[in-house]
Amino acid sequence: MAKKTAIRQNLKTLQRHLGAKKDTSESLAGVISAIALAGKSIAEKVRRARIEDVLGDAGEINLHGEVQQKLDVLSNALLLHCLSACPRVGVCASEEEDEPVVVRPWSDGGEFCVLFDPLDGSSNIDVAVSVGTIFSILPALDGPDPAAAVLQPGTRQIAAGYILYGSSVLMVLTTGDGVDMYVLDPSLGEFVLVMERLEIPSASKIYSVNEAYFDLFSPGIQAYLRFAHESGYGSRYVGSMVADVHRTLLKGGVFLYPATTKHPDGKLRLLYEGNPMALVIEQAGGAAATGEQRILEVEPRKLHQRCPVILGSPEEVEHVTRRL
Ligand code: AHG
Ligand code: MN
Ligand code: MN
Repeated sequence: MAKKTAIRQNLKTLQRHLGAKKDTSESLAGVISAIALAGKSIAEKVRRARIEDVLGDAGEINLHGEVQQKLDVLSNALLLHCLSACPRVGVCASEEEDEPVVVRPWSDGGEFCVLFDPLDGSSNIDVAVSVGTIFSILPALDGPDPAAAVLQPGTRQIAAGYILYGSSVLMVLTTGDGVDMYVLDPSLGEFVLVMERLEIPSASKIYSVNEAYFDLFSPGIQAYLRFAHESGYGSRYVGSMVADVHRTLLKGGVFLYPATTKHPDGKLRLLYEGNPMALVIEQAGGAAATGEQRILEVEPRKLHQRCPVILGSPEEVEHVTRRL
């Protein structure tokens, strides 16, 4: 008797899924594939970091005054390499680069700007806790200074998402019409679609903040935290934005990195942390604010600008913002 072979039904790779999406042009799909390819390499580097001795600092301080980790540098190089090879990428901007990198002008087909935090969660790299890559894709602009195109508000994003290097490697992506999730299937070496049109729970009693800064927060944030303590909330904080936002997306709650007296704009960067995460969360039915306005509507003035971040379930974000 012939043996039955199990065939997985409806197996959809990232490539196949993007190819079928009406809102995704072939050139945009090419850029996302380049990010996915870099993500696969970064995932491998993260997994083998202790074996290959690529942990610890790289001996350089980046322009944020933070010590660059060896894996920050490697991840940045991998993304730049994969994106430069993609014929539609015009400009790249990275947390680890002082200035935008012009890959090719508009006239040579440079249609997109890609902004990224190559490896988010630096403090967790050495201890095998989840880290990630965050990316934002904007239209490039035809003009004398191609690099100027990186300074567009988040509402102009064509696509955004993140890759989480955790107990599994996954990509969460929006191309402006809902949010989908893909998991890297190690047996195939491909990201496969696992969830379509993710929706964030409208409310959930979880807050995620570095509460050690309590005394440095504004009275409004302090009042919110007192409310959360009195109202039976749970607290979860990994310290990698990608991991904290991913949990918030799936389980609901609110993630905050507000202003402190030391850092009046908070710590997170608008263009490659705030904006892409805000687009993902809004596209999943959540809210993302600075406390004064939607994150996506902030007019950027400079590449590495910071902004306070309050994002998550709409009702939970509201509990915070109405106290500010
Ligand atoms: P990065 O590693 O890219 O510099 O980002 C780290 C960020 C973010 O991942 C996280 O939410 C935050 O730093 C944690 O900061 P604290 O240690 O101040 O809580
Ligand atoms: Mn980061
Ligand atoms: Mn980083």
